[in-house]
Amino acid sequence: MNKVVLYCRQGFEKECAAEITDKAAQLEVYGFARVKEHSAWVLFECYQDGDAEKLIKNLPFMSLIFARQMFITGELLKDLPPEDRITPVVATLTGQVDKGGDLRVEVADTNESKELMKFCRKFTVPLRGALRAAGVLSKVENNRRPVVHVFFIAPGCCYVGYSLSTNNSPFYMGIPRLKFPSDAPSRSTLKLEEAFHVFIPEDEWDERLANGMYAVDLGACPGGWTYQLVKRNMWVSSVDNGPMAQSLMDTGQVTWLREDGFRFRPNRNNISWMVCDMVEKPAKVTALMVQWLVNGWCRETIFNLKLPMKKRYEEVSQNLAFIRNALDEQGINATIQARQLYHDREEVTVHVRRWWAAVGGRRDER
Ligand SMILES: C[S@@+](CC[C@H](N)C(=O)[O-])C[C@H]1O[C@@H](n2cnc3c(N)ncnc32)[C@H](O)[C@@H]1O
Repeated sequence: MNKVVLYCRQGFEKECAAEITDKAAQLEVYGFARVKEHSAWVLFECYQDGDAEKLIKNLPFMSLIFARQMFITGELLKDLPPEDRITPVVATLTGQVDKGGDLRVEVADTNESKELMKFCRKFTVPLRGALRAAGVLSKVENNRRPVVHVFFIAPGCCYVGYSLSTNNSPFYMGIPRLKFPSDAPSRSTLKLEEAFHVFIPEDEWDERLANGMYAVDLGACPGGWTYQLVKRNMWVSSVDNGPMAQSLMDTGQVTWLREDGFRFRPNRNNISWMVCDMVEKPAKVTALMVQWLVNGWCRETIFNLKLPMKKRYEEVSQNLAFIRNALDEQGINATIQARQLYHDREEVTVHVRRWWAAVGGRRDER
C-alpha cells in the first residue's frame, strides 16, 4: 500500500492536492497527487515504499486544512464481480490490517455518489461480518484500533485501506452529522458548532466553552454564531450593523452593538472567546485577529477566512504564517488550527488558542 486517499469538498481538489504535496515534502515524502476536478477526493501516490505509511503516521491529520479524511491504500480494485464483491476486498485487507476497530464503506461527497451510497449501506453489514471472520476487524468495535475504509468511486470499483484512529477524522466520510437547531436564526450556526466539534476535544467543552464566559461575536447578524455561544450560557457582545434575532435578545445574554467590527474594542479583560464571520478580505480579517491575540483581548478565537477564487491554498497558508510570525515575534505561545469544514463553502475556519505570553498581555494598546 503506497498511496493515500484524501477526501475534500467538491471543487477543492487542487487545494487538497497542493496541500498534501507540500506537507508531505516537509516530511521528505515525495509523490504525485492525482486530481479529478469536482470528484471530491485526491489520490497521493508516494514514490518510495513505506512512505504512505510514514504519512498516515507522521503527518498530523489536524494540520491538514482541505482534507476531511486521510487513509492509506493500494491499487484500485476494479470490476468486482457483482455476485461476490466481498472476497476480493477481504483478500486485499488480510495481512494489511489486524483487528481493525471499525469499518467505513464510503463514497465521495458529491451528488453523483448518492446512488452508490445506498449500495454502500447495504454492503456494510455482510462485509463487516466477513472482515471479522478473517480477523481484519475485531469482534467488537474498538475506537483505539485502525479504521478500515472501503471507498467506492464507481459501482464495483473501490480503494481499500485503513486510517489510524489516533490520526484521522472520527467521522464517517470525514463529516460530522449535525442537526440544524430549529430555533437558530441562521444555518451558519452549524459552522460554529462544527468548529467546536473539530477543534475542541469533547472532554474539554465544559471547561473551555463554559457557563458564564464572556464572548464577542464580530459580524454577528442575524445571530447563528451568537446562538451557539448563548446555548453554552455565555454572555455575548454581538457586533453588527444588522440586528440580532429577537429570540436571542430575549435571553438577556446578548448585547447588540451597532459598531464596525474592525474598530470595536472590548471594554473588559476577561473575554474567553472572540468569533468572527465578517465577509472581508482574508488579510484584513487576519490582521484584526492578530491585533486581538497580541493584545490579549481574548483567550481563544474562531474565525472564517473567505477565500478568493485562485491560489486558495497559498492564500490560507500565507495568512496562517502571518499569524504565527506575529505571535512568535510577541513571544505569544498559541495553537493555530484551520480546516475547511463541511459547512464551509468558499472559506476556511481558523481556531487560535492563546496559551501564554512571554511579554504579558499588553492590554494598554487599544
Ligand atoms: C456571513 S454574515 C454573519 C452570519 C452570522 N455569523 C450568523 O451566524 O448569523 C456576515 C455579517 O458580517 C457583517 N459585517 C460585515 N462587515 C462588518 C463590519 N465591518 N463590522 C461589523 N459587521 C460587519 C455583515 O453585516 C453581516 O451581517
